[in-house]
Amino acid sequence: MTTATSTVSGRRRRRERVLYQWLADELVSLIQTRTLRSGDRLPSVRAYSRQKRVSLATVLRAYQLLEDRGYLEVRPQSGHYVSAPSGGLAPSPSVPRPSFAKEEVRIADLAWELLARVNDKGMAPFGIATAAPEHYPTRRLSRILTRVIRESGAAGLVYGSPVGHEALLHRLARRARAVGLALRPDELVVTNGCTEAIQLALRALTRPGDVILVESPSYYGFPQTAESLGLRVVEVPTDPETGASLEHLESAIRRTRPRAFLTNPNFQNPLGFAVPDAQKREQVALLARHGVAVVEDDIYGDLYFGESRPAPLKAFDTAGNVILCSSFSKTLAPGYRIGWVAAGRHSERIRRLKLASSIHTTTLAQLAVAEYLSGGGAEHHLRRLRQAFRAQVSDYAHAVARLFPPGTRVSRPQGGHLLWIELGSGADTMALARRALARRIGIVPGRVFSTGDTFGHCFRLNCGFPLRGELERGLETLAGLAR
Ligand SMILES: Cc1ncc(COP(=O)(O)O)c(C=O)c1O
Repeated sequence: MTTATSTVSGRRRRRERVLYQWLADELVSLIQTRTLRSGDRLPSVRAYSRQKRVSLATVLRAYQLLEDRGYLEVRPQSGHYVSAPSGGLAPSPSVPRPSFAKEEVRIADLAWELLARVNDKGMAPFGIATAAPEHYPTRRLSRILTRVIRESGAAGLVYGSPVGHEALLHRLARRARAVGLALRPDELVVTNGCTEAIQLALRALTRPGDVILVESPSYYGFPQTAESLGLRVVEVPTDPETGASLEHLESAIRRTRPRAFLTNPNFQNPLGFAVPDAQKREQVALLARHGVAVVEDDIYGDLYFGESRPAPLKAFDTAGNVILCSSFSKTLAPGYRIGWVAAGRHSERIRRLKLASSIHTTTLAQLAVAEYLSGGGAEHHLRRLRQAFRAQVSDYAHAVARLFPPGTRVSRPQGGHLLWIELGSGADTMALARRALARRIGIVPGRVFSTGDTFGHCFRLNCGFPLRGELERGLETLAGLAR
């Protein structure tokens, strides 16, 4: 009897928990999309409980949760209000001065020194851009992989095609159609992650000594890859909310005669912006006019917080000038190393380079991903992933506003799971990163995202893991170090 009663009340408690979190998530989403603005008054607890048909306790707990997270404030005798400024966030990062950084690339050493350790076991995972394992469909993928191993027999062991397994190539082409890209399977090459896709694209387009353009700041993997190919990197000043302006791009093209623009237009790492569609169209046209190829990294494209997925640059490409690179590393399974490149008129060259680079990508992982994508659960998984990242990014942004010193700025990513934090101008985030490492907290200092020293007071914060328990304390410690 006692057991039955406690099971029922346990169930009720769990249901309550789900309900108030659901209510809180819905309110957060209204605040983030600015449907509810700073200073807006929320309905009274009683009115909201009637409106939503939930108990008073559920509404109260949801409001309390949002108060704790800094989204709401209580005004005595008046009610609950959305916090100011911008719902409890710190201001956005400043637009960097349009200065061109040094062209010498030494990112690799710097990145290696820090990044070799930030993924260590027991380290607070604010460094590497990755998500908590529970965000990936681990069980389902493992079941599929086991079946693939059993059923594929020798096909999984012998050499496969350099371009990739046809089951996956067909799936990729179908998915591309859903974002407005008419790609044929024979234009695609499966790669070992997005990293190999970018490397093949750059090898197809450049020779050692050539110049490529990148955004500033940009993902440290870009100059690392460029450095390994003997390329020179020139940074284009980049607006934290809209990306590289046409004016800056054109000026860099005239000055440096680059071979390619390597860009991450959707939810850019580290700033999180998505280049507006009109600007994407103009960027593509401008680069084609000057004969500069585009290597587009669209790895975060599916992780949008808004209503719909932004188009890749490739969707505006009428001249076959854009090489599109991506992977499942941010959405499915980084360890599977499944990426791809849509090379358009460079397809033949890239196929040959793939053969020389790694012969082909592991067949078993390709088959497992192809089967997963054909199973129908992928869209549901992506929807949940987007919701989780949107809530997590918001939690981290509010915690930063609460914990970090006055004057700290924080980016407003439109997708993905990264925040860019700008401390006061005198701050040294290389020193901060080293001190944080000693306390088993990983962050990536701004210095790693540029060949110049424009971002020495900034750092990137990964929000891929829910902010609770140990991680909450880790962020508090980091804020203490920053102070
Ligand atoms: C913008 C960007 N491109 C590429 C990569 C690497 O992708 P992959 O693991 O598929 O090689 C990352 C990983 O952080 C990234 O942020």
